[in-house]
Amino acid sequence: MPRTIIEPFRIKSVEPIRWTTRVQREALLRAAHYNLFLLPSADVLIDLLTDSGTGAMSTHQWAAIMEGDESYAGSKSFDRFRISVQEIFGYRHVIPTHQGRAAERILFGVMCKKGDVVPNNTHFDTTRANVEATGAEAVDLVIPEGREPGTRHPFKGNMDIAALEELINRKRRQRIPLVMLTVTNNSGGGQPVSMENVRQVSAACRKHGIPLYFDACRFAENSYFIKLREKGYEAKTPKQIAQEMFGYGDGCTMSAKKDGMANIGGFLCTNDDLLAQQEKDLLILTEGYPTYGGLAGRDLEAIAVGLQEALEEDYLHYRIASTAYLGDHIAAQGVPIVQPPGGHAVYIDARAFLPHVPVEQFPAVALACELYLEGGIRAVEIGRLMFGASATMDLVRLAIPRRVYTQSHVDYVVEIILEVWKKRGSISTSPTKRRSCATLPPNWNRSLRRTCADRRGFVAGDITSP
Ligand SMILES: Cc1ncc(COP(=O)(O)O)c(C=O)c1O
Repeated sequence: MPRTIIEPFRIKSVEPIRWTTRVQREALLRAAHYNLFLLPSADVLIDLLTDSGTGAMSTHQWAAIMEGDESYAGSKSFDRFRISVQEIFGYRHVIPTHQGRAAERILFGVMCKKGDVVPNNTHFDTTRANVEATGAEAVDLVIPEGREPGTRHPFKGNMDIAALEELINRKRRQRIPLVMLTVTNNSGGGQPVSMENVRQVSAACRKHGIPLYFDACRFAENSYFIKLREKGYEAKTPKQIAQEMFGYGDGCTMSAKKDGMANIGGFLCTNDDLLAQQEKDLLILTEGYPTYGGLAGRDLEAIAVGLQEALEEDYLHYRIASTAYLGDHIAAQGVPIVQPPGGHAVYIDARAFLPHVPVEQFPAVALACELYLEGGIRAVEIGRLMFGASATMDLVRLAIPRRVYTQSHVDYVVEIILEVWKKRGSISTSPTKRRSCATLPPNWNRSLRRTCADRRGFVAGDITSP
């Protein structure tokens, strides 16, 4: 096998990206109130804000789009979508939604009520918000290693089984309507969950009669990590691994904007006939008829093809290797990252990168702003700003869109991060200490909160990690 790992595609259509000067970026950032979500995307050179819906579609997906059947009911596109989903996920009911959070809203809306508790390895922010919107409590039970950025563990996304058993015994089955496993664990560094852990969580759920659901956004990347790291799975295909994994559960929510390789879409699956009926009733209220659920027929076609492409080994080999390439090259120079690099993103530990910036001054926001100023790179804070005081880490996530950037783009990102690393001592959130580095106005937190209160939707729309 040659040592060089190449992008397993060639480029048929290109989208220009635009250089800006540092002076321009300083003005742009000021105008955006130091909120990277408010920057015009045209002024970003390399956009690593998210891997969600930002991927490039294949020629097969574009061709399938032309087959879109836009019939309101009984569309052929829905059949192709359902067959593709069922082949991989294996669940009886497949309910399309416009994206992942719509699937979450419907699932929790039907299953949860005030006083309930929903355990997860780590809730993603929309997942947590949708649980809490029903009056239920969202509890994160990732293993202790999953909360320590520098600690290496092959499956840092695993759920703490003893903590799960303890919670179930304390709250009893009546208070826990479902357990969720997020694969891979986005808010915890894009870290995978092992098949052994899936089996143990499933056994604990079965013992107590509690359904197990997957937050399946990055199921293909998780399956590939199992193939690479877990004994007994070396010879299995990612699809066989995914099929086995989903077989231990009762359903899932999915954002097709990730491992569905599409720019929009999602779905909800369940084996429970009664639940499916209730979910479809809710779906009709806000998403649409159950054979399109908020999507166009052409979107269903793109997802049907994309789910299969996400499981191709050549693609996954390149995907996981290119993310690791970024993480390993910056870590080799001392940049503190969540170890090992995740599947879809590299997470910089901002508390360790900027130890002189107090946690209440949002070190990850300061670092993300500095990356933009230095090289036009946009990343996202995952920490105290996003999750409030309950955040245990302050991370800057560099999420890699699927099939979009080439190795030279990644080399550029490495160069910029290392430049910022060299001058880390001068990065400050205080204007008095400022040289040319990212700054937040002293009243930034207060003014942001006022803006949030004034413009409803700002928090949900502009400061989530997609
Ligand atoms: C783990 C996880 N769950 C759920 C979601 C929500 O999906 P969507 O953005 O399609 O609503 C995301 C989005 O980033 C996610 O990463």
